[in-house]
Amino acid sequence: MKLVVAITGASGAIYARRLLQLLARSGHDVSLTISAVGAKVVERELSARVDLDDVDAGVIAGTEMAVAYYRWDDFFAPFASGSARYDGMAIVPCSVGTLGRIAAGCADNLITRAADVFLKERRPLVLVVRETPLSGIHLANMKAISDAGGIILPACPSFYANPESIEDLVDTVVVRALDHLGVETQWSGRWGSE
Ligand SMILES: Cc1cc2nc3c(=O)[nH]c(=O)nc-3n(C[C@H](O)[C@H](O)[C@H](O)COP(=O)(O)O)c2cc1C
Repeated sequence: MKLVVAITGASGAIYARRLLQLLARSGHDVSLTISAVGAKVVERELSARVDLDDVDAGVIAGTEMAVAYYRWDDFFAPFASGSARYDGMAIVPCSVGTLGRIAAGCADNLITRAADVFLKERRPLVLVVRETPLSGIHLANMKAISDAGGIILPACPSFYANPESIEDLVDTVVVRALDHLGVETQWSGRWGSE
């Protein structure tokens, strides 16, 4: 599959790291883009150096991986057009700023444009939104995107599989995001998998 991963400036860069790690092992064709604030949050939370002109996805993933990187303002990226026929996009983590711009149809950067494309083409778009508490504006924006076919998958870890580490908790969110993109994972935390 041809997949797009976008990282925006919400807390939770570790979700992006883990998502990229799992995709690195999946054999899928991954394209990556990062917002300007997203890069700063990644640097702060993952202690990874991010040069927006030349991002090494391996530094973010913590493992070597081949991805096609596109700057947040590069509207010439292939997935900025529906005719390129990509299979899915995840925004991980997704800020409420990006959420609001997508809900309003404001395609002002590569991330919001690509999201707009995935919605109009009726292709999977997963938003791992991270904010708390949520205002009525955030909730209305989530409903608008959900009504348009997007998947709102908040960064709300679950505890029923008795996670023992932060990584285990992160997987309870990231694996579900991959589920909605149609990416197979081997994960022992599924209910009923004991
Ligand atoms: C360290 C840090 C943490 C942040 N955490 C969040 C967050 O959890 N959720 C959120 O919606 N915005 C958060 N923000 C604010 C966004 O980065 C800000 O609204 C920004 O304009 C989002 O732009 P983007 O969506 O283009 O990345 C954070 C900012 C910083 C610097």
